[in-house]
Parts: sequence; C-alpha cells; structure tokens
Amino acid sequence: MIIHDARFLTSNSRADLCPAPTLPEYAFIGRSNVGKSSLINMLTGRNGLAKTSSSPGKTQLINHFVINDNWYLVDLPGYGYAKVSKTSRAEWAKMINFYLRNRPNLMCVCVLLDSRHAPQPADLEFMEKLGEEGIPFVMVFTKSDKQSTAQTKALLTTYLAKMSEIWDELPRYFQTSAETKLGRDELLDFITGVNQD
Ligand code: GTP
Ligand code: MG
Repeated sequence: MIIHDARFLTSNSRADLCPAPTLPEYAFIGRSNVGKSSLINMLTGRNGLAKTSSSPGKTQLINHFVINDNWYLVDLPGYGYAKVSKTSRAEWAKMINFYLRNRPNLMCVCVLLDSRHAPQPADLEFMEKLGEEGIPFVMVFTKSDKQSTAQTKALLTTYLAKMSEIWDELPRYFQTSAETKLGRDELLDFITGVNQD
C-alpha cells in the first residue's frame, strides 16, 4: 500500500465523540511505551504524526488519523504503566471498553507486544477480553531491532506456546521495528487485505 496522505483528525476521550464511523478503522493498543505511536509514524512514513516519548503514558486520548482518505488509524493510550493510580487505570479501562464496543467500523485491533518481554498478564488478559467480545485482533511484536534475530525468534516461540494454552487458533502475528521499518509492508498489506474483504 502506498500512503499518499496521512492526517491527524481528532483526539477524544469518548468513542461517541470520535469521527463518524464511515471508514474502516484499525486501532493500535498495548502497554505504555511499547511503541504504538512510533509504529504509526513508521507505517505512515510521517515522523511526528503521532507523538512519541521515552517516558510512558504519552498518549492519553483516542487519536484518529485518516489515511489515503479511505481508512482510519487510531492511536490509543497504553495500559499497564506501574506508576498510574488505580483511578486512572479504571478510567482507562472505561474509555477503552466503551471505544471497543462502540466502533462498528472497527476492523481489527493491533495489539503491540515488546519482542524482548516474556508474556505479561496484562497483555494476555487484554487479548482474552478481545476474544470474549469477538473483536478481531492481531499481535504485533515491536522493537525487534533492540535484540538479535535469534532472541526475537526464541521469544516468539515462548509467546506462541503460551498463547496456544489459551487459544485453539493462534491469532496472526507480525514482527516490526520502527527503526529498521521491518514488518511495514506485511502489516500494511494485511490492513489492505482486511479492507477489501
Ligand atoms: P505511550 O503513548 O506512552 O503509551 O507509548 P507508545 O506505546 O506510543 O510508545 P512510543 O511510540 O512513544 O515509544 C516509546 C519509546 O520507545 C520511544 O523512546 C521510542 O523511540 C522507542 N521505540 C518505539 N519503537 C521502537 C523501535 O521499533 N525500535 C527502537 N529502538 N525504539 C523504539
Ligand atoms: Mg503513544
């Protein structure tokens, strides 16, 4: 897919205030600092389109971008940041659950996972919840440039083994790096494919 246009549209705290659900939508979610905003910039080829930061918790709202005037890409705030209060966590869960249930145009959620980290309960629980709600998702392993290919491969094997304890059919997965652009074509081709179904 050639991205000839990528624009920021709106930031919202509520799904009902988000842009009208007239275009297919793909949302990016995962733990704070996993690399959601960086991946969005890498995919769109626009550095600075989504705000990134080395300190977790940068993205706080539901951010809509419109790509090629024919699909929405959504940058969501991260979960699982240890320093966040219980109240903020509950607010995050409320906002995200409401968002996930109220976007009829949501085609797929990309769940970002750090390729250096063993399966974390917060991620496994989040994916289980998506499964229970019947929301399609894929796993996107990020930051693969930060370690050797062999290390990433070992982590993927562990991760898939863990997932197969929970899932009869494993979700699709992608390996990416915002630095080297690894996985860009695969992920964009997947999105285009889902768009055409
Ligand atoms: P929140 O919005 O705070 O939840 O974080 P986020 O998931 O959007 O992460 P963000 O894209 O802001 O990236 C967090 C940090 O990781 C930044 O310092 C990025 O430069 C770095 N980072 C993200 N992706 C990659 C990657 O693929 N490779 C490397 N080396 N660094 C990355
Ligand atoms: Mg972010």
